[in-house]
Amino acid sequence: MCGIISYIGKQDALPILLDGLYRLEYRGYDSAGIAIIDHDGNVCHMRTAGRVDELANLLAAHPVQGSFGIAHTRWATHGAPSAANAHPHADCKNNVFVAHNGIVENHAKLRAALEREGHIFASETDSEVFAHLIERALGFLGNAGTLEDAVSEALRHVEGAYGIAVVSKKHPQKLVVARRSSPLLLGIGDNEFFAASDSSALLRHTRRIIYLDDNELGVLTPDGYEVRNIRHKPVPKQIELLTGSPEDMEKGGYDHFMEKEIHEAPDVLRNALRGRVLYEDGTAKLSALDASADKLSRINRIIFLSQGTSYYAGLAGKYMMEELAGVPSETLYASEFRYAPPPLNEQTLVVAISQSGETADTLEAVREAHRHHVPTLAIVNVVGSSIAREAGMGIYNYAGPEIGVASTKAFISQLAVLSLAAVWFGRQRNLSVLRGREILQELRQLPHKAEKILSNAARIRALADEYALYENFFFLGRKYNWPVALEGALKLKEISYTHAEGYASGEMKHGPIALVTSAFPSVVVAPSDSVYEKSVSNIHELKARGGKVIAVATEGNTEIVKIADHVMHIPRTQEILSPILTVIPLQLFAYFIAKKRGCDIDKPRNLAKSVTVE
Ligand code: F6R
Repeated sequence: MCGIISYIGKQDALPILLDGLYRLEYRGYDSAGIAIIDHDGNVCHMRTAGRVDELANLLAAHPVQGSFGIAHTRWATHGAPSAANAHPHADCKNNVFVAHNGIVENHAKLRAALEREGHIFASETDSEVFAHLIERALGFLGNAGTLEDAVSEALRHVEGAYGIAVVSKKHPQKLVVARRSSPLLLGIGDNEFFAASDSSALLRHTRRIIYLDDNELGVLTPDGYEVRNIRHKPVPKQIELLTGSPEDMEKGGYDHFMEKEIHEAPDVLRNALRGRVLYEDGTAKLSALDASADKLSRINRIIFLSQGTSYYAGLAGKYMMEELAGVPSETLYASEFRYAPPPLNEQTLVVAISQSGETADTLEAVREAHRHHVPTLAIVNVVGSSIAREAGMGIYNYAGPEIGVASTKAFISQLAVLSLAAVWFGRQRNLSVLRGREILQELRQLPHKAEKILSNAARIRALADEYALYENFFFLGRKYNWPVALEGALKLKEISYTHAEGYASGEMKHGPIALVTSAFPSVVVAPSDSVYEKSVSNIHELKARGGKVIAVATEGNTEIVKIADHVMHIPRTQEILSPILTVIPLQLFAYFIAKKRGCDIDKPRNLAKSVTVE
């Protein structure tokens, strides 16, 4: 949420910062701004409401040449999206400029104190306090004070989360950045340095990066960098290498990132399984679990923690874990767990699921689990992300960068990894080698089966076109496909702004069915599984009340085509793995409805990728 990119070196900063903003735009896109200090020490400070394109247009009329600066693309928390509330924010004398991600929880108190001291605020944001706190600290420290000392002093007063980048007119050729609970990484080039909230902004410039940890500051000049903690002590940091290629950040011929990412499902499945299937033993090879096998054999309860789409993956994970391993499991919103954790002990395992690895609620939930001495396992896509680094054990998805704000390929990958983990736990307990093999064998077939569904995209598009003008939908499913119904509804509402509700099919009769009319269609996820007959009864109930029904069903099912109005097919698969396939038609359905409705699919209103504030 929000993106920061900053640069110091020998090149012109403007094109680097603008390119970085475009790469980070998926993290927030309601306003953007830039502060570059030119060769004469003048500042070009420009901000605008709207997208990065608007900022680029403004800058085209006011070209600036300078070799260091900071830039920001915002997802508003405090204060409406406007030029005045856009970052970077300045101090009273326009000397200090700050871009901030996160939330300053004690901003009202700090602002009141600073105003009493005579500071004049120009925005409604919480973030502006940084600029005035640094201004005040520079005043205390006098001529001997460095910018980094002033930033350290300012940070002592701040409660909450921040990733910040700071430049000052009075301290040329220096960039100071700092983090607490909001991601920030340094990019190390040859006599040039970058700092960004996300590696996607750095990949074109350097693969050598340093992840800042909480309460660390980076001091960057054209000649070098230093990382120190807020007590001014240098901290030795390891340079890590980014993987992936800049092409991963392109649409690759598709109209939208979301479409590209849905079509990546077969490769995503191959990547999730690569090197992890021990077919002969009927188990999975998951190094993190293997290394802690002893400790994990004593686990008697699992809590999956996550938000949004990842939460729905966790709901399916609970069923998988209980069926294959017999370990009682529950799935909780990380945001609830953090403030209302259930009684916990060392035989409980917390599994945090997060595509970005930066979701503030999930990260804080992991920290809460650690406060209770509970072992934690992260299932995370973004390598090196905060949750991946903080959790005790980790399994990466290796799904590649997910740029579309609506999560698609990550969900599929999460389900595949969860099924591997459930097989692993099962084999540690009572799961037979034969049953383990059956699941692994079917997992290996899934990439082809996903390809088959995707080859039918045109038919799903035709159906979506027919339904694009309906304003309300139910999505229903049972057992393993209840989470898929929830996910199908979420996809539709977030990218097409169509009202959609996901329910466990059995819950319909307890109230929601009152809404069903011919104008309120239902999508019923009903593959041929252990609850299929019950799903058929639910379809009859909807039809009897004049409701239209689109079913997701298994190929070859001749019965359902006679009952439902339309059917989207999936190849036959094991019940436990069926969500991996049933979700694909629903992703495509939502995508095509949004396309027909002319929506901004990759950047839906009010949303942003990677929710780094609570
Ligand atoms: C929905 C979506 C969100 C995320 C949620 C958690 O399409 O993308 O609901 O799933 O914000 O994000 P991660 O998985 O990054 O923790």
